[in-house]
Amino acid sequence: MPYENIIVTIEDSIGLIQLNRPKVLNALNAAVMRELGQAFDEFEANDAVRCIVIYGNERAFSAGADIDAMKTATPVEMLQRDWVAQWDRPRRMKKPVIAAVSGYALGGGCELAMACDIIIASETAQFGQPEINIGVIPGAGGTQRLPRAIGKARAMEMILTGKFMKADEAERRGLVARVVPVESYLEEAKALAREIASKPPIAVQFAKECVNKVYELPLGEGLEYERRHFYFLFSTEDQREGMEAFLAKRKPQWKGK
Ligand code: CAA
Repeated sequence: MPYENIIVTIEDSIGLIQLNRPKVLNALNAAVMRELGQAFDEFEANDAVRCIVIYGNERAFSAGADIDAMKTATPVEMLQRDWVAQWDRPRRMKKPVIAAVSGYALGGGCELAMACDIIIASETAQFGQPEINIGVIPGAGGTQRLPRAIGKARAMEMILTGKFMKADEAERRGLVARVVPVESYLEEAKALAREIASKPPIAVQFAKECVNKVYELPLGEGLEYERRHFYFLFSTEDQREGMEAFLAKRKPQWKGK
């Protein structure tokens, strides 16, 4: 289906989603989130797509939920629309999702990036949860994911003051995997996506699921969850192929089976 607020393309085995409302710094409204959900569904169903990259433009990944679209909403309207629930979609994807962030990633934009599996940031990236300055709080995961990513004290400071964090600090504190020059941030994210796409798909899916369980399970249960997935991989053709190829000193051919 045609998209109006995002640009969806496929490059080799990489699914690309560009947020495309540049006039409002890629503010996220219900239509964007609906289209994002459709694009994720499309990529999840397409076996040729192995990894996804979501990005905005140099000035803004996204400046957050669309304030204009929310300003007169009642609680019941917000509840009935429930578009904020869409923000969690990247985490629920089986395939890995990389956020390539340049410029502003604020409010719902920061939350969308944090819902992805890896953030690659340009040196101009700025992260923040400035909702406090417009009379609300982060509603799409910010109060939960930011403290897990950078620790409670700094997250609390950011959420209570609305101040932004620059890329170098975000890297130091573990919010982003890597900071790269602005000219190459998208290419770096695509290169990382291509590398992940070249790995055995079922193992990639299980690895993503297991790492995400860190946030949900106590250690003992997490270790058991990981162990069962590790054992289960011994039923795949890719496990045989990977181990045989290693011992034969040749490159493995993955089948995703
Ligand atoms: N929603 C709607 N429109 C937005 C927007 C947003 N979140 N962010 C920016 N825009 C619009 C501006 O209104 C402006 O539109 P006009 O040209 O029509 O006036 C345009 O984008 C450019 O923005 P600015 O002129 O403000 O650009 P700037 O360079 O001076 O400032 C900025 C950039 C610091 C990012 C500033 O735009 C800003 O503070 N934006 C709002 C950030 C914010 O509060 N985000 C949280 C939203 S609430 C949320 O996300 C809730 C949740 O958890 C789900």
